[in-house]
Amino acid sequence: MHDYDLLVVGSANADLVIGVDRRPGAGETVLGSDLAVHPGGKGANQAVAAARLGARAALLARVGDDDYGRLLLESQRTAGVDTVGVLVGGAPTGVALITVDPSGDNSIVVSPGANARLTPDDVRAAGSLLAASRVVSLQLEIPLETVAEVVRAADAGIGDRPGPRVVLNPSPPAPLPDDVLAVCDPLVVNEHEARFLLRDDPAGGSGAPEEWAEALLARGPRSVVVTLGGDGALVADRDRTVRVPSPPVEAVDTTGAGDAFTGALGWRLGVGDDLETAVRFAVRVGAAAVTRAGAQESFPTADGMAAR
Ligand code: RIB
Repeated sequence: MHDYDLLVVGSANADLVIGVDRRPGAGETVLGSDLAVHPGGKGANQAVAAARLGARAALLARVGDDDYGRLLLESQRTAGVDTVGVLVGGAPTGVALITVDPSGDNSIVVSPGANARLTPDDVRAAGSLLAASRVVSLQLEIPLETVAEVVRAADAGIGDRPGPRVVLNPSPPAPLPDDVLAVCDPLVVNEHEARFLLRDDPAGGSGAPEEWAEALLARGPRSVVVTLGGDGALVADRDRTVRVPSPPVEAVDTTGAGDAFTGALGWRLGVGDDLETAVRFAVRVGAAAVTRAGAQESFPTADGMAAR
């Protein structure tokens, strides 16, 4: 019996957001909008996205004992995420400095803070959360050794039961050990992340997304999803490769849209959808998320999706 459709293990950041006409170049100063502070972080965003859609979701993360940490805990609880796994203290809450231009594109610099103190020991201490979850979703704003510990525990299983299915979005991208890649089902990448992982591979150059997916599968993951922004996503496993189109939308702010996609995907896999069906739903959630400003506050609810 599982208590959670989705456990997210990852970062929680305070997002400090400024709208700009254009992003500054090196050595340049530009003026922007008033500062807005929002709850964010790729892990926290995924958990909120899933919970707003109706998932039984939990978050394993670390925040500081400060106002930003309390903001993040509050946003998780308001969305209905179980915060029993959110640890407090050890360093200030992570912060993301974000600029958003008129086309909705963003640039982000993250100071990891407490996220960098989420350790493999913290994962071992949270074994009951992993055991209670059908899917575990990870990103790379926490230490890679912590991600690897989650993957190892999931792969080892819980007694004689299989462990949770692993979804990994390697963002921000970093080199991944083979034993981590081998358990991903799926590995979720955007174009930038695919090109990083394939930087030594001819398919990473001018290749098409289908070639990236094939080259990434050759590295070992059980399945691969390539997100393609306004063009939707591509789903690939050993048997087939399928493109899933996105509904046309007017982009206002793309911040967190990838997290909304992955949170929705993890939830749908947790309730038993096959990968293509889960991606078809997640593409619609990601499209909805770009039509409103901010990260978590832009994520659709179950009612909002039903009305689209
Ligand atoms: O993916 C968007 C997120 O990236 C933001 O919320 C910010 O905190 C960074 O982690």
